[in-house]
Amino acid sequence: MSIGLKNKHIISMRDLDRSDLDLLVETAGAIEEGRIKPDMAGRIAALLFFEPSTRTSFSFDSAMKRMGGETLLMKGTGSTSVQKGESFSDTLRTIERYCDIIVMRHAVEGAARFASEVVGLPVVNAGDGANQHPTQALLDLYSIKKTHGTLEKLKIGLVGDLRFGRTVHSLAQALAPYNPEFYFISPGFLEMPEHIKAELTAGGVKYTELKEVDSVVPELDIMYVTRVQRERFADPEDYERLKGSYIITLDTIKDAKEGMRILHPLPRVDEIAEEVDASPHAYYFEQAENGVYMRQAILSILTGAVK
Ligand code: NCD
Repeated sequence: MSIGLKNKHIISMRDLDRSDLDLLVETAGAIEEGRIKPDMAGRIAALLFFEPSTRTSFSFDSAMKRMGGETLLMKGTGSTSVQKGESFSDTLRTIERYCDIIVMRHAVEGAARFASEVVGLPVVNAGDGANQHPTQALLDLYSIKKTHGTLEKLKIGLVGDLRFGRTVHSLAQALAPYNPEFYFISPGFLEMPEHIKAELTAGGVKYTELKEVDSVVPELDIMYVTRVQRERFADPEDYERLKGSYIITLDTIKDAKEGMRILHPLPRVDEIAEEVDASPHAYYFEQAENGVYMRQAILSILTGAVK
């Protein structure tokens, strides 16, 4: 069943069709429930994080180790020969000889695609600049499937920095096959990029753009909140002007449907008040845990350990 994904790369959501998404979500569920126990003994994943990470790097690391596999974890280039002037492609062509799969995060958009063209192993994009973060979108799909029992016909609000936030680009594309109704809620300057909107329109997906969240809260099944991506701003003054332009409090969600769940890829800065954490609507730490099951599914399917 998973033959189609063996030895494939996951660089962009466009690399996956609906049957791939369904398979990954089902496999993550089977792994969490113990119905599938992938055996990765003897296999090594290189986790190359050229940009900071907590959840993505550690959940891939945890996923590999829970399956009996091992990891080579690089966080920053400080202790590597990149500091001596080694090129990106020479670094990759060396590391591929030490592992079975490469997971990579890089500040440059397209870096993971480039890596997939240089090496002969599956490459997984763990975030490339402001472009894509497909494995986050996959764990988000799995989280939504768990909270709502379906991915079909949900009303999803994406809130915050929709321009530089790579997670929302991937998530909008990931949900598109499931007949969603989107609300894109952001201050001016941080709107969803035109190319994503054009793709949704071409696929017949409905979206509404808004500047404030309050009026739409009672409609939502999922409120997906993101931080303003400070590191992507060319002008720090723009960041200063826009940071803190929306903060979700208990008051914001007082008219939410009972089943509405708040997701956030984390890290949070101040866009969700801590008082919301104890609310039954808050799901972001469970979401972070779901990352381990989804990344177990990704690693085991791409390496062929789960067939
Ligand atoms: C996100 C990322 O790196 O894009 N974090 C994550 O992987 N969970 C979101 C963010 O940094 O805001």
